[in-house]
Amino acid sequence: MEVQSVSVSRRELLTGAAALAVLGRAGGWAPAAHGAAGDGELLRARPGTARLVPPGYPETPIWGYEGQVPGPAVRLRQGERVRRRFANELPEASTVHWHGIRLANAMDGAPGVTQDAVPPGAEFLYDFVAPDAGTFWYHPHERAFEQMARGLYGALVVEEPDPPQVDRDQVLLLDDWRLTEQARIHEESFGALGDWSHAGRTGNWITVNGDGAWTRTVAHHERLRLRLVNVANARIFSIDTRGLDGWLVALDGQPLAKLEPPAPLVLAPGQRADLVVDVVAGEGEKGLLFSREREGTFILATFAVSGVARATRLPVPSPLPANPVTPLGELGRARHATLRMEGGAMGRLRQAVLDGTTMPMRDLAARGKVWAMNGLAQMPQEPLFAARRGETVLLTMINDSAWPHGMHLHGHHFRPLSPSGEPGPLRDTVLTDPDETLRIAFVADNPGDWLLHCHMLEHSVAGMLTWFRVA
Ligand code: C2O
Ligand code: CU
Repeated sequence: MEVQSVSVSRRELLTGAAALAVLGRAGGWAPAAHGAAGDGELLRARPGTARLVPPGYPETPIWGYEGQVPGPAVRLRQGERVRRRFANELPEASTVHWHGIRLANAMDGAPGVTQDAVPPGAEFLYDFVAPDAGTFWYHPHERAFEQMARGLYGALVVEEPDPPQVDRDQVLLLDDWRLTEQARIHEESFGALGDWSHAGRTGNWITVNGDGAWTRTVAHHERLRLRLVNVANARIFSIDTRGLDGWLVALDGQPLAKLEPPAPLVLAPGQRADLVVDVVAGEGEKGLLFSREREGTFILATFAVSGVARATRLPVPSPLPANPVTPLGELGRARHATLRMEGGAMGRLRQAVLDGTTMPMRDLAARGKVWAMNGLAQMPQEPLFAARRGETVLLTMINDSAWPHGMHLHGHHFRPLSPSGEPGPLRDTVLTDPDETLRIAFVADNPGDWLLHCHMLEHSVAGMLTWFRVA
């Protein structure tokens, strides 16, 4: 399949992408359903089909939660309990990881660390309290590079007790698929070392909520809360807007103390951003969310303006209330750890340790490993560090490779430090650029063994996976 036809030039963007009219599908706004707590609702991972591409192409066979792309949204209020009986109806083992939730360790869905992977035909009860309000998501953590590329993911939205005033609250799950001419998932390239040693599996078809031309009708001056989630295996979105004006209010489910401009916004795999925007495009015009990339500019979401919601814009919103995340302790007394990331194409890695043996790159590659962290090309026996509960940890991440890596910490949120040591906004996933050294700090206050890995899923499986312990 050719690179998506919704790729448009800057000029087309300005004149309003006529081609999209062909692709646009009518669709109502789904009302926000509240997940019932306490009943252990079923969440089945199973094969299904999805209309990812325009009519004229066949539907795509996928794997999805409840057989859908995306899976059902899990929505609850802050402090409420999520209870889902996960049933694996896939031909291979799987788990559910609740990305970004600071939950009890046993519910984290990390196979081999917090639970055994759930075999085909078996079930696992996930039951946890969501302490933070914000935008989160769920996805498998077993063979994620394949299972997520096939469509297994869903939104997990935790509402504030007193949410900001908006007219619509919309989750937008941004995905990137590699499809064949027949709109089938390109299966031959699962495990392709070329992807694993480069940027990861990037695709040729971008969807929002499983739709290649996601469009909704809105009114002028309507206020929208857009919850963006990058669920792609490897694609980094560089997001910008047109005809929508407002604020970035949260990153990775954690409110910003001060509102920021909504764009430009870089969203690495795993990351989220909450925008509160007003439709400033006029009647008959379009508000657009798009991504500027090397291959072109892709429209992600189209908001066609019809009618007027109000004569003037709503007042500037206040920042969202902070979540109960433990404040950083004194950095001067923090526990230090270092993570050196090496490998990949055009890298300097010559050898690394696998199964207790130091091997040259060629032998590692023959075993599907092309990355190393601290010289090890696999999940280590020993933790990267063991912290006392409540201790502040300062982790230095050195990206000694030619590729960006989106590093994700389980069970905790951290603050990236500026070069001068100023703590930035809370995150659970942070992008490190080639040759960048980035320090992050967090309070290790959630007991258990937790993963730390690259969220470019091909990198993770090819060596970029480690863990730490909070005692
Ligand atoms: Cu979203 Cu360990 O993953
Ligand atoms: Cu990576």
